[in-house]
Amino acid sequence: MLKKKNSLERIDNTKERKVKNRKEKEVTRGKHYYANSHNFSKKTNPLPAKWTDKIICGDSQVILKQLPDNCIDLIFTSPPYNFGLDYEDTEDAFVWDSYFKALFGIFDECIRILKYGGRIVVNVQPLFSDYIPTHHLISQYFMRKKLIWKGEILWEKNHYNCKYTAWGSWKSPSSPYLKYTWEFLEVFCKGALKKSGDSKNADIDADSFKEWVSAKWTIAPERNMQKFKHPAMFPEELANRVLQLFSFKGDIVLDPFAGVGTTCLSALKLQRPYVGIDISPEYCQIAADRLRILPTFRETPILNKETGLTQF
Ligand SMILES: C[S@@+](CC[C@H](N)C(=O)[O-])C[C@H]1O[C@@H](n2cnc3c(N)ncnc32)[C@H](O)[C@@H]1O
Repeated sequence: MLKKKNSLERIDNTKERKVKNRKEKEVTRGKHYYANSHNFSKKTNPLPAKWTDKIICGDSQVILKQLPDNCIDLIFTSPPYNFGLDYEDTEDAFVWDSYFKALFGIFDECIRILKYGGRIVVNVQPLFSDYIPTHHLISQYFMRKKLIWKGEILWEKNHYNCKYTAWGSWKSPSSPYLKYTWEFLEVFCKGALKKSGDSKNADIDADSFKEWVSAKWTIAPERNMQKFKHPAMFPEELANRVLQLFSFKGDIVLDPFAGVGTTCLSALKLQRPYVGIDISPEYCQIAADRLRILPTFRETPILNKETGLTQF
């Protein structure tokens, strides 16, 4: 009787298909064609001391306009999702058009203040029930703005979102509902893929580097959302990995939707100056309280409510 082979056994892995003249073909194709006609300046400006290591309470659309061009190394953020969550000071359920208009207005400022070679990493969970691929729309926006797509990280949350029973058409192909246990991190660079920095200030060890460049990260969701009174935090481990993989010690880190300060907390622990902005005075206060207990915390953050113009 013939032994039935499974599909994996039939593949001869020793005869990997090679591309002949790979390098020449790469040159012919060209890299990141959508970003090559950018006009970004290489000049770097210092971040004024009044913004450094601060939690700022206000609308990012207003606050970011006050920061100089090319002064931030890394932006890591998770924008409001437009899911209808109960945030303290803002709505979270807008017509998608106005949501993206407001979001992209803030991202325009983020791009302006990023240094040449700086990175912006955006954590998004698309609202699949509305059939809006937020991660694609955000990526298309950055490519239109001539940023270079560095890659995409899948943040696997261990079936966190699949506990509810939304099947769509149960047992029928007419309209099954696809469910996702992960979120996306879209990574973009301004001007260049390579970031300048002193190798002495790289603080990622070999094992972490090997593990994290494999772009599926399994990290449990934040468990202390009730304690910190915020409905949509990301876990500190996620911020730690982003900061260590994409920035050097001493690089300036910004989160324009800082919530209760997870990115800033990670930055302070990892010796990176930070700027965190959130529209909610309650969240800013909680963020400041989380930072204050660290021995390296230096000064009282600004808690300065500006009039918000941006509608989310
Ligand atoms: C997904 S949460 C970010 C949570 C954060 N990553 C954390 O771990 O705490 C989005 C945040 O954006 C804030 N927000 C909404 N509109 C804003 C605006 N125009 N300017 C600044 N912050 C805003 C909300 O208050 C909310 O805290």
